[in-house]
Amino acid sequence: MIEKHLVPPFAPTMKSIDPLAVEVAGLVHHYGNFVALKGIDLQIHQGQIFGLLGPNGAGKSTALKILTTLLTPTAGSAHVAGIDVIQSPLQVRAKIGYVPQMLSADGALTGYENLRLSARLYDIRGKDREQRITEALQFMGMSEAAAKLVKTYSGGMIRRLELAQAMLHRPSVLFLDEPTIGLDPVARRHVWDRLLELRRQYGITVLITTHDMEEADFLCDELAILHQGTVTAVGTPAALKQQVGPDADLNDVFSHYSSGSALQEEGGRYRDVRKTRTTARRLG
Ligand SMILES: Nc1ncnc2c1ncn2[C@@H]1O[C@H](COP(=O)(O)OP(=O)(O)OP(=O)(O)O)[C@@H](O)[C@H]1O
Ligand SMILES: [Mg+2]
Repeated sequence: MIEKHLVPPFAPTMKSIDPLAVEVAGLVHHYGNFVALKGIDLQIHQGQIFGLLGPNGAGKSTALKILTTLLTPTAGSAHVAGIDVIQSPLQVRAKIGYVPQMLSADGALTGYENLRLSARLYDIRGKDREQRITEALQFMGMSEAAAKLVKTYSGGMIRRLELAQAMLHRPSVLFLDEPTIGLDPVARRHVWDRLLELRRQYGITVLITTHDMEEADFLCDELAILHQGTVTAVGTPAALKQQVGPDADLNDVFSHYSSGSALQEEGGRYRDVRKTRTTARRLG
């Protein structure tokens, strides 16, 4: 039984005095004729770890790509750290870190070289650069592995390296798309610890997508469930469980708010296998 971490005392009181870390209103996204997001609303407070759940194809990655300025929405608005993602994408990029669903570290480079690339991307130069890289490696427990090629890393090490890359420029909001998929329980726990520590030390806000209900329960202050492009529930894990029934766990909550998705889930299993294989090929 995992002990639930303590929600920081500042989280509820910040609502009234600080701008939201993420604010989404009426967000719509079309891929051609297909409507992936049907007008979603989300509010995430500073310092929260917020979980976006939902079956395969629900639109989670699409929402994250819009919030990280990689996709332009068809309609609606989205603000990150108070900045409009459509009007001011460059300013938003300076405030955020993003770990995409597909592994993004380059397997042919060392961990250190990957971090150097990120530093260039974020325009971190000179003395600052080496200091930030050293700090990020230490924080993620990757100092010893830094000189090794990423293709020799375990899945957990790759995810931790990607987190190090995403935090290099000290972002205020982190977007993590299934950061622990395929990790063993120890590696997964290590990533959780680092995320909680990032929030504790830097007050960072985290938006995470996951299919892992234990992860959502342990890590997230608040959850939203997305089903076929619509938000069907929002609340704390405890409140959502209570809404569904006296003995409900998060699996019951998930099923309750994303019913009618059996066919999609079948398709999704295939998609997950395909994604994992593609990733393995890329890392050689
Ligand atoms: N580039 C694209 N072109 C057309 N359709 C797309 C594209 N990207 C995603 N879709 C479709 O949009 C829907 C939402 O996809 P998205 O990747 O956002 O879902 P998800 O919730 O992240 O799913 P998963 O849990 O499998 O990662 C899916 O039906 C998907 O097939
Ligand atoms: Mg996805």
